[in-house]
Amino acid sequence: MLVNEILINYLHFCFIENISFMRKKIIAGNWKMNMLKDSSIALFDKISSTEIPSNTSVIIIPPAVYIDPLNLANNSKIELGAQNCHSELFGAFTGEISASMLKDLGVNYCLVGHSERRMYFHESDEFLKDKINTLLNENITPIFCCGETLTQREKGEDKITVEKQIKNALFHLDGNVLKQVIIAYEPVWAIGTGKTATPTQAQEMHSFIRELINTKYGREVSSSISILYGGSVKGDNAKELFAQQDIDGGLIGGASLKAEEFITIIHS
Ligand code: PGA
Repeated sequence: MLVNEILINYLHFCFIENISFMRKKIIAGNWKMNMLKDSSIALFDKISSTEIPSNTSVIIIPPAVYIDPLNLANNSKIELGAQNCHSELFGAFTGEISASMLKDLGVNYCLVGHSERRMYFHESDEFLKDKINTLLNENITPIFCCGETLTQREKGEDKITVEKQIKNALFHLDGNVLKQVIIAYEPVWAIGTGKTATPTQAQEMHSFIRELINTKYGREVSSSISILYGGSVKGDNAKELFAQQDIDGGLIGGASLKAEEFITIIHS
C-alpha cells in the first residue's frame, strides 16, 4: 500500500473515531400517561434545578397536554419532546396531534414506534415510516424506538426483528437525513419490568444496529447517529450501561418520574 493511502486511511480512521467520541449523550425521560399539571410542573422544576453536564442533552417527554405549561415554566436547558404524533399535518383524525402542532409549541423531538404504541395501538411499520417523514419535514427529530419481545429473543429472533423494524421505517432515508434521527433500542421484555438488559446484551445490539447502518450508509453516518438504550434504566445501572461504546444515553420511563433518580441518571 502506498504511503499516501496509509495516511489517508489513518486520517479517515481518526475522523470517524472523533465523531464517535463527539456524539452527545442524550437522556430522555418518557413520562408516558402519568402526572397531572401541578405535579408535572413540580417534577420539571426539580429536574431543571440540576446542572446539565455540557456533553449531555436532556429531553423531557410529558403527556402532550402538559407540553405547553412546561414550556412556559422552562427556564433551563431542558428540551421538550412529544410521545406521539400523526403522519398527516391536518385533517379529520379525531383525537390526534400533528407534527405541525408540536412544532407550533416549540417541540424538537417526538417518539416514534414505542413498543406500547406498536402493541396497544397496532401501529404498523408503514405508518411509522410516514410519521418519520412528516417529522423530518417539520424539522422535529424523531426518536425511533425498536426492540424485540421476550419470545423473539428466546427464539433467537432478536436481531432479525430489530433489523426489520429499522429497515422498514428508516432505510428509505438519505444518509444525511438519517443522521438527524435518534434511535432508541428498547427490548420489550425490559420495559417497565425491572429486568434491564445487561450492559453486554445492550452493547451487542447497539453495535449490531450501528453495523447495519454502516453496511448501508458507511462509517461516517453510522458513527454520528445516537443510539439510546431504554428498558428499566435506573440510577444504579445507568453508569455501566452508558459506559458501553455504542450506547449514547437512555430513554427512561419509570425512573424519569422520580426527580432524584432521574438526576442521578443525568449525571451518569
Ligand atoms: P422503563 O420504560 O424505563 O419504565 O422501563 C422505558 C420506556 O418505555 O421508554
